Amino acid sequence: MHVPVRVGVIGCGNIFSRYATGMSRFPGLELVAVADVDAARAHVAAAETGAAACTVDGLLGRTDVEVVVNITPPTAHAAVSEQALAAGKHLYVEKPLADTTAAARATLAEADRRGLMLGAAPDTFLGSAGQTARAAIDAGAIGEPVGATAFVTHSQAETWHPDPTFLFQPGGGPALDMGPYYLTALVNCLGPVSAVYGASRIGAPQRTVTAPGRLVDRIDVAVPTHTAATLTFASGALATVMMSFDVWDHHLPFIEIYGTEGTLSLPDPNGYDGPVLLRRHGDPQWAELPPAVPPLARPGTDEQLLRGIGVADLAAALRDGRPHHATAGLAFHVLDALESIGVSAGTGAPVELASTCERPEPVDGTYGAEALKTLETHP
Ligand SMILES: NC(=O)c1ccc[n+]([C@@H]2O[C@H](COP(=O)([O-])OP(=O)(O)OC[C@H]3O[C@@H](n4cnc5c(N)ncnc54)[C@H](O)[C@@H]3O)[C@@H](O)[C@H]2O)c1
Repeated sequence: MHVPVRVGVIGCGNIFSRYATGMSRFPGLELVAVADVDAARAHVAAAETGAAACTVDGLLGRTDVEVVVNITPPTAHAAVSEQALAAGKHLYVEKPLADTTAAARATLAEADRRGLMLGAAPDTFLGSAGQTARAAIDAGAIGEPVGATAFVTHSQAETWHPDPTFLFQPGGGPALDMGPYYLTALVNCLGPVSAVYGASRIGAPQRTVTAPGRLVDRIDVAVPTHTAATLTFASGALATVMMSFDVWDHHLPFIEIYGTEGTLSLPDPNGYDGPVLLRRHGDPQWAELPPAVPPLARPGTDEQLLRGIGVADLAAALRDGRPHHATAGLAFHVLDALESIGVSAGTGAPVELASTCERPEPVDGTYGAEALKTLETHP
């Protein structure tokens, strides 16, 4: 058993508690410091976790912090990442890796230049659903994958996030906010994307915030809130992807993958676990596949929104001297695909992607076993 990797979190907003609780499931991680430009938020986070409340510079100056977790809003990601890398810290960044590929490229180059590890959300594909679907495809359960559908429907942030302004500004929108979960899941199963075509529009020009304890009442919308896209994968598979903050009610699946011999249906990629269903041509009904690895949290509960396995995997990789799974290269490729859908929507022409990536290697069951044991001991 290695000495735990000491972690400092920058950004103590809405998602902070889910990281703190989520990371506490993994014995390989120790949260030692928290920071936020809003000092009061850092103090609340420190009181909640027992970590030290710091300024950003103070956290980055601490010699005991080995890995920084950047969970600031998307438009702040690149600048905070640059600060953390300049301080010599390994880094894990929330999605999207940056608000533009240009900014993300600079982050990648800096980590590379300094020989520092760089990981990025989403990490949900490391859960049992993503691993099970990928194993089924690799085993030929649906034959050759031909097509896929993915539907990002409204997460209704106006009803629960105290200030969802950033979701309706550049760096946000359904594509950059929720798209990474769905596209990462598709790349995990089907490999890299080679070309995209998209169309998009703003639904309503203003949104009303109804969340309890809200900090804003209305938001002017500055990015498309409804996008329709087709993705061509290097494998030849074609995906139809909708990403929307305008679809409040529907009967759509999350993700389905269609092969020459059958169909796979995947659960919400915003969570880690849940039923992966297979129906081969001629089967009388859908069959739930046995999970390829243990779940990280109880399916169908709010535990699915806890975060941290990507950080735990990066930390274990740091100690073991091996590659991690939720890589910045994967996150960059997904950001490139999403940004290119936006470019295509603007020009009306398809876009060939300049980037590609390797499919992440499958994980073993260690993380699920650790995480579930902790959750069951401290529910
Ligand atoms: N909210 C969610 O449910 C959720 C879920 C998954 C992922 N995420 C991602 O996590 C990130 C944060 O989301 P959130 O909802 O917690 O946002 P938030 O706005 O609630 O919190 C962000 C925090 O970062 C702080 N901050 C901003 N700029 C900073 C800087 N330069 N240095 C230090 N602190 C700074 C803010 O003061 C704020 O406390 C985003 O990238 C988002 O996409 C959010």
